[in-house]
Amino acid sequence: MKILVTGGAGFIGSSFVRYLLGAREDAEIVNLDLLTYAGNLRNIEEVAANPRYRFVRGDIADRVQLREVFEEHQFDAVVNFAAETHVDRSILDSAPFVRTNIEGTRCLLEEARRYKVERFIQISTDEVYGSLGSTGSFREDTPLDPTSPYSASKAAADLMVLAYVKTHRVPALVTRCSNNYGPYQFPEKLIPVLITNAMENRPLPIYGDGMNVREWIFADEHSRAVLMALERGNPGEVYNVGSGHEKTNLEVVHEILRLMDKPESLIQFVKDRPAHDRRYSIDCSKIRREWAWSPEIDFCTGLAATIEWYRTHQDWIREIKNTSYLSYYDQMYTRRDETLAGTASSKEED
Ligand code: NAD
Ligand code: TYD
Repeated sequence: MKILVTGGAGFIGSSFVRYLLGAREDAEIVNLDLLTYAGNLRNIEEVAANPRYRFVRGDIADRVQLREVFEEHQFDAVVNFAAETHVDRSILDSAPFVRTNIEGTRCLLEEARRYKVERFIQISTDEVYGSLGSTGSFREDTPLDPTSPYSASKAAADLMVLAYVKTHRVPALVTRCSNNYGPYQFPEKLIPVLITNAMENRPLPIYGDGMNVREWIFADEHSRAVLMALERGNPGEVYNVGSGHEKTNLEVVHEILRLMDKPESLIQFVKDRPAHDRRYSIDCSKIRREWAWSPEIDFCTGLAATIEWYRTHQDWIREIKNTSYLSYYDQMYTRRDETLAGTASSKEED
């Protein structure tokens, strides 16, 4: 099987590339990634010399470049991880989210259609369903109700994928997973922000009252579900992926501080994110039933392994937490304060 993986230099895509090469001896992968701020060749250096693996730097929203890659390789399948992924960045500037997440997905669908690929897996997120109260869980037929520019762009991409199934008979399907954590996650998402800041005894920013709930899954477990989607999924269907490990952000930060033996005084409550989704919870009984998939790693074990990975990969963190990362953080907090005070101008106006 020859598979195009997009976004394979990011956090979850790189987990999938490593997992797939190990799990299937006949799999050949072309990893197409733009290497944005979130893409990092170090995430996949352990497979770089594998003869069944090739890296191409490229943009999923560039039709000309995509055509050349599809023409050269004749893929059997496409797995689309490539995306802009951070809610806070989408609040500051939604333009790259529309371009990559919506237009990029459309371009990939067009090439998949033209070259008649046998499977197209769209990696989506539970955030497309919006926010829950204290009870209930998202099912595959829960109406879409995104609240951030990020989740709106992912919902639009899902609808485009499902429309291409109906209109053009592209054999595509969608997976929607809950919050991932694990090694190689860029330190802008909650868990790596907390771990890497705690390592330096810097404040741990908690938005609002810290009572927002997320369902945390170890990224390699998500990769296992994506391979099942590739091999067993039905075109036109949606498959939820989750772990059942629901935690408030305060529970997460307390557990990290306990495992790292750091004081609670590092916690710093900061202004809330606008339209901050209160709770996510996934009902993934469909893939448990149809594929016998189930999560195997409990939250505390996964978190301890993640902390150990960051502790032993200080050079990886140092390379990322460079000047441009720090200036993004300064800008983010200044602009977020302006947004909340209603004084921010949009990026386009700047
Ligand atoms: P990430 O931000 O770590 O990586 C994204 C990758 O996409 C990067 O390597 C980046 O260089 C690449 N990319 C961005 N724009 C591109 C473009 N135009 N062309 C080609 N490559 C491009 O993201 P992640 O956390 O690994 O998420 C991967 C996918 O999983 C995304 O589609 C995301 O929506 C979805 N997802 C993420 C989570 C989560 O908790 N992180 C949960 C559910 C679903
Ligand atoms: P995040 O990792 O950005 O994922 P998402 O918003 O896509 O679920 O955030 C997870 C939760 O943690 C969310 O409720 C926002 C919160 N959060 C903080 O409290 N502090 C932080 O520094 C970050 C990045 C997130």
